[in-house]
Amino acid sequence: MVSAGEAEHLEALGALAERWEREGAAPEAILRWVGERFGTDAVLACSFGAEDCALVDMIARVAPRIGIFYLDTGLLFEETLATRDRLQERYGIRPIAFRPELTVTQQAEAYGAALWARDPDQCCHMRKVLPLRAALAGRLCWITGLRRDQAPTRRSAPLIQWDAEHRLVKCNPLVRWTVDDVWGHIRQHNVPFNPMHERGFPSIGCWPCTRAVAPGEDPRAGRWAGTGKTECGLHLPAASAPGEVTR
Ligand code: ADX
Ligand code: SF4
Repeated sequence: MVSAGEAEHLEALGALAERWEREGAAPEAILRWVGERFGTDAVLACSFGAEDCALVDMIARVAPRIGIFYLDTGLLFEETLATRDRLQERYGIRPIAFRPELTVTQQAEAYGAALWARDPDQCCHMRKVLPLRAALAGRLCWITGLRRDQAPTRRSAPLIQWDAEHRLVKCNPLVRWTVDDVWGHIRQHNVPFNPMHERGFPSIGCWPCTRAVAPGEDPRAGRWAGTGKTECGLHLPAASAPGEVTR
């Protein structure tokens, strides 16, 4: 349920999403709007994957007041953290880390070793979903690198929407981009990126739940391979698309 005030908000966002869609608004134009509208109350959720590296570059150029955070699960690849460092150096940014309540060792003591192999949903909940909640608390808008062609679960992701779970605006400036658009931007602007992308890892999460994919395989097949899990819960079921309002 949303309140009448929020519904009004939602309708306005729906109209904006439709206009951007119709006009084919560029991600930079969308980020500029977010920067002007929300300033430092807007944040990029950055996994240091290719999409997010491109967004960091755009934000640095067109909306530098937007903050950047990452969910440090304690299980990120070394290459991911090195990418963070290279972006920091290149753009002078300070991505803020949000960490789970329990370290990996404490989690093993409390829930047994390698919880990710037995109950990845619970592991993701503790190590990603709850820290995301903390990262978004008190913010007005969050930005993600979601793209529609990444997964069936993302096919109808709008450019901007009301995130009913976290109660703030969610903006996905790259939803209409293909993977080639992302790499075109990275190459054109010489943006630092995770070198694992060139070693068969199109989609990179925590090391226990990420493997390389073979050429031609689904780019997300390397995430939680063999478990049936396709999303960690950051983007489900939180955001209702404009129009899905319950009054
Ligand atoms: S996931 O849900 O499967 O992990 P994916 O890796 O495709 O997501 O990333 C989609 C978007 O979710 C990223 O562009 C980013 O906005 C956000 N995201 C994913 N992982 C993180 C993370 N560790 N820290 C911050 N944001 C993240
Ligand atoms: Fe745990 Fe794997 Fe989720 Fe990371 S991706 S939080 S290791 S289940």
